[in-house]
Amino acid sequence: MIEFRQVSKCYDPNKPNAVDSLSLTIESAQIFGFLGPNGAGKSTTIKMLVGMLFPDSGSIFVEGKEVGKDSLAIKRIIGYVGDEPLFYEKMTGLRHLNFIADMYELSQENRKERIGELSAMFEMDHALDDEISSYSHGMKQKLGIMAALMHESRLLILDEPMVGLDPKAAFLLKKTMRAHADKGNTVFFSTHGMEVAQDVCDRIGIIGKGSLLFEGTVQELSEKRGKGNLEQLFLELTEEVPL
Ligand SMILES: Nc1ncnc2c1ncn2[C@@H]1O[C@H](COP(=O)(O)OP(=O)(O)OP(=O)(O)O)[C@@H](O)[C@H]1O
Ligand SMILES: [Mg+2]
Repeated sequence: MIEFRQVSKCYDPNKPNAVDSLSLTIESAQIFGFLGPNGAGKSTTIKMLVGMLFPDSGSIFVEGKEVGKDSLAIKRIIGYVGDEPLFYEKMTGLRHLNFIADMYELSQENRKERIGELSAMFEMDHALDDEISSYSHGMKQKLGIMAALMHESRLLILDEPMVGLDPKAAFLLKKTMRAHADKGNTVFFSTHGMEVAQDVCDRIGIIGKGSLLFEGTVQELSEKRGKGNLEQLFLELTEEVPL
């Protein structure tokens, strides 16, 4: 379970809070989609969840442990792909995956099996001996996702993971996310894709200008807002079009 309690973050005191008093609970064994327009506060929220940024106020709990207080224990159970995955570009893809496997202390046998499975699934086996600097944007995105899936993370956190993926890879990722949640793990991801949210999310949260505007199922959103497709509902809720 993930719990945000009254979490706020401000980058610039002359500007409104990037995240403003966010309270949100996400139960385990589900896929939670985090939606919101550009600049709404999704990545800021995610960076606070993974311990890369500290909230100015409020607290975040992961499986009962407070982020920032029990960092190593939390990092061990998290798999994370950021909005701009960074790599040592001179490493090969295989070296990167082994580097991640070292961090999570995976056995040689375990990592070999996992790398084999993941590279076959994401069709990256042919590229693993190449330097990451030679990878396309989508290939780097796939490598980041594979790295996050190397260990059986109880909490998989992905910031806009579909960006740059071709339709087949996006389909495989959605399938992988479902299988991961069905095993009792939690998947928290941000997206701009309403269709993705509809396809794959058990619940969604919509954030606008740092505040949570909606939390529930896609079904509940359409019932709450009346007629209209999901895209219209989203635009109305986030005030991107006049109500
Ligand atoms: N490093 C930073 N320094 C200053 N302001 C920042 C920084 N990162 C984000 N912001 C501001 O915080 C707000 C929230 O940004 P954030 O990146 O969390 O949005 P987002 O919902 O992830 O947007 P997008 O959909 O474009 O990725 C924006 O107003 C942004 O300008
Ligand atoms: Mg973002």
